[in-house]
Amino acid sequence: MAEASTPEQSQQVITYEVKSRADVTQQDVNDLGVFVSEEINRAKLDRTEQNLDDAAIHTMAAKALADYMRNEEDMDLIIARDRDGKLIGYRLIGFASVANNKKKVTGTYIGVKPENRRQGIGLNLLSRSIQAILDRGITEYETDVRREVPSLYDRLGITYTTHPLPDPEIRPAGSQRLIVHLK
Ligand SMILES: CC(C)(COP(=O)(O)OP(=O)(O)OC[C@H]1O[C@@H](n2cnc3c(N)ncnc32)[C@H](O)[C@@H]1OP(=O)(O)O)[C@@H](O)C(=O)NCCC(=O)NCCS
Repeated sequence: MAEASTPEQSQQVITYEVKSRADVTQQDVNDLGVFVSEEINRAKLDRTEQNLDDAAIHTMAAKALADYMRNEEDMDLIIARDRDGKLIGYRLIGFASVANNKKKVTGTYIGVKPENRRQGIGLNLLSRSIQAILDRGITEYETDVRREVPSLYDRLGITYTTHPLPDPEIRPAGSQRLIVHLK
């Protein structure tokens, strides 16, 4: 499924693809790999705390995607591409089955290229992923986030409670655990 955003949402044409596990291709995996390599190179050149944190987060996302593919686990991958088809943002969510045919969220990852931030792409990715979560009958989930992510939920009018993370000293500054309430 692919659709263009409205011009007000972005100055350039961004296409969003919402993919369940069966729809994710090796090309998507490779495209995320290119995104991650570029962000690692950025961090090597400019070793700001933010670049280093971001590169670590994107690396975890690429590893999670590889694990979900290998283990055939349920997931949704939402990709934002620019007009040239280059992957400039992603949202990855893993799901596991629990009792009574229910599902739970097991992992959440989001990232947008620094040069494409503050154009609403993160909001678009997050809102599409919320729909994917609701489609699985899930109305509450736990997610470990950092810095600006809670304000994305605020902007979507989604409520959450905040909780301290275990081992805060080894987490990036501003990390916290949210329990997100969708109903
Ligand atoms: C978090 C991230 C995905 C947001 O992507 P984005 O495309 O820039 O987000 P949006 O443009 O949709 O921002 C929506 C709103 O969130 C808030 N926001 C986003 N980035 C912000 C920042 N750096 N500082 C303050 N508020 C911010 C603002 O309210 C913003 O609305 P506004 O631009 O109209 O003020 C992006 O910053 C990113 O990739 N960060 C590095 C990876 C990361 O931290 N992932 C999350 C791990 S838990």
